[in-house]
Amino acid sequence: MKATDKTYVIATCNEEDTIKIGAIMASVFENRVIAICGDLGAGKTHLAKGIAKGMGITRHITSPTFNILNEYKTNDKTFYHMDAYRLTDAEDAYEIGIEDILEPHGITLIEWAENIIDTLPQGYVSIYIEKGEDVNKRLLFITADKESIDRMANLIYENTDR
Ligand SMILES: Nc1ncnc2c1ncn2[C@@H]1O[C@H](COP(=O)(O)OP(=O)(O)O)[C@@H](O)[C@H]1O
Ligand SMILES: [Mg+2]
Repeated sequence: MKATDKTYVIATCNEEDTIKIGAIMASVFENRVIAICGDLGAGKTHLAKGIAKGMGITRHITSPTFNILNEYKTNDKTFYHMDAYRLTDAEDAYEIGIEDILEPHGITLIEWAENIIDTLPQGYVSIYIEKGEDVNKRLLFITADKESIDRMANLIYENTDR
């Protein structure tokens, strides 16, 4: 994280809302690596579904818990969806070929990214999802360069009733 990065905090009120925010993010974070952290059931995979939707992917997005890496192609772009839950360190990540997905033409999204954080390139987008008091409420903490965050904030303002 750079000193000039900015964190944007947004609350979502149900899974559809998280998907909608993810879809908005897709256009802002094109060609970036997105690291998502948060407990089991926080909504990481639902945010991934939204991002894929925003990229125009119509295939059903499933959690890559067992196969670790899923790949979805659309026109000329690729959505890489990784789950690093069962990886313990950078060595594990290199073994599964992480370097091949770190300069995405599309988006690379990594759940449980804290397990392999040392392998990520500078300038990755960091998202932390926290469960709220209400069962369907989540807080998303999104950190990236200020310009991208401001662009995303405008899109969210224009496209949702916030
Ligand atoms: N605001 C919300 N955003 C995302 N998921 C939510 C929300 N509220 C409730 N949920 C539920 O929480 C669960 C999130 O699951 P999932 O996305 O697989 O989490 P993770 O990938 O972090 O383990 C789903 O059962 C979903 O229906
Ligand atoms: Mg998941």
